Order: sequence, then C-alpha cells, then structure tokens
Amino acid sequence: MAIIAPSLLASNFLRLEDECKMLNHSEADWFHLDVMDGRFVPNISYGLPVIEQIRTATTKPLDVHLMIEEPEKYAEAFAKAGANILTVHVEACRNLHRNIQQIKDLGMKAGVAINPHTPIHLLVDIIEDVDLINLMSVNPGFGGQKFIPYTLKKIQQLKRLIAERGASVDIEIDGGVTIANAQEIIDAGATVLVAGNTVFKSATPIETIATLKKM
Ligand code: DX5
Ligand code: ZN
Repeated sequence: MAIIAPSLLASNFLRLEDECKMLNHSEADWFHLDVMDGRFVPNISYGLPVIEQIRTATTKPLDVHLMIEEPEKYAEAFAKAGANILTVHVEACRNLHRNIQQIKDLGMKAGVAINPHTPIHLLVDIIEDVDLINLMSVNPGFGGQKFIPYTLKKIQQLKRLIAERGASVDIEIDGGVTIANAQEIIDAGATVLVAGNTVFKSATPIETIATLKKM
C-alpha cells in the first residue's frame, strides 16, 4: 500500500478550504505542495502565505516540493510555515549535503528531487542521509503532463541503490500518475504516489484516492 499525496496544484484555489476538508476526509496520507519560482521552472505557483493557511486546515503531513533556486534561503521559513517534509532539487543545490542537514536540523524530513534527465547515480553519496527521493516522472513546472515511461527503470535502479546501502528511503513518483499506471509504478518499487489532476479533476476525488490507496 503506497502513501498517497494529492498535489494541490490541481485544486480549485477559490475553494481551497473545501479542497483541504475533502482531503482530510479521504484516505490521502500527505498534502503535496508544489512551490515554483519562475526561475528553476518556467512557472510560478504559490508560496509561504498559502502554505501557512493550509497548515491551519489539516493535521496531515505537508510534503513541500520546492522547485526553486537557492532553496537554502527559504528552508527555515518553510519550517515555520509548517512543512513536515521539505524536498529540494539536486539540480538547484550547489551544496546538497549541507542543504539536507539544514532541513533535518530544522526538524523536517529531508527529500531530494531529480528531474527526468538526471541519473540515479548522482544520489549515491547522499542516499543514506535522506528520508525521501522524489523521482520526477514529468519535467517539473506543470501539472497534467504525461508520465515518462523510463521512470519505471529509474525506480528499479533507485530501489537497488537503497537496498545495497540498507537505507530506509521513500521513493516518491511525481507527475502523470493515473489510475491506469499507478499499479505498475507501485510494482516497480514506488512507496509514495503524487497525484494532481487524477485526484482533483476526478468527479469523485475521495473515491479516486481510495482506489489509489487500495493498489
Ligand atoms: C509538477 C509537480 C507535480 C504536479 C503533478 O511540476 O511537481 O507535483 O502537481 O501533477 P499531475 O499529477 O497532474 O501530473
Ligand atoms: Zn511535486
């Protein structure tokens, strides 16, 4: 059974409180929050003030995915805003090891995300230090894109690396997850599924989450 982390990027921001309540009543495990700065990715989403308010609307863990340059400048602010898991991109960090320690020192779980073009072997020297690896299965920046099939091979490579080191690390798949492909993603070794459009554009989001949860 995977951890299900709906991405609020696909939610209705005019009805954000209702969307949070819906997730609270569902089997969703985490809230996945996508922060974009218009520099690391070609899009801008939402940031600290929105996350602070979402914090007051749920007790479920906030899984904050930073698609921003210089994430170390903002880690403390995201901790104060209520993030439980803070994920930074390999491609955005010059001192990744230091950034991971900073996130942990701030009392959060540390995640590292990699883009579709970034090989798994770049993670070999930090895999024992992190709680989660976010394997991007689309190019970051937008919801509603198509799952890149090669990600399935990367899940297996990552699973092998984690096992070799005897580490305990969640494998999160982010982008293009649907009811149709979720099972093979879990079978390949994913432990966390992010789903934006699949959940929020569904006619029955609570049931869709339950279906993902059952897989
Ligand atoms: C993309 C984000 C994803 C996105 C997923 O840059 O990191 O979390 O919201 O959306 P879907 O599930 O619609 O592909
Ligand atoms: Zn994300």
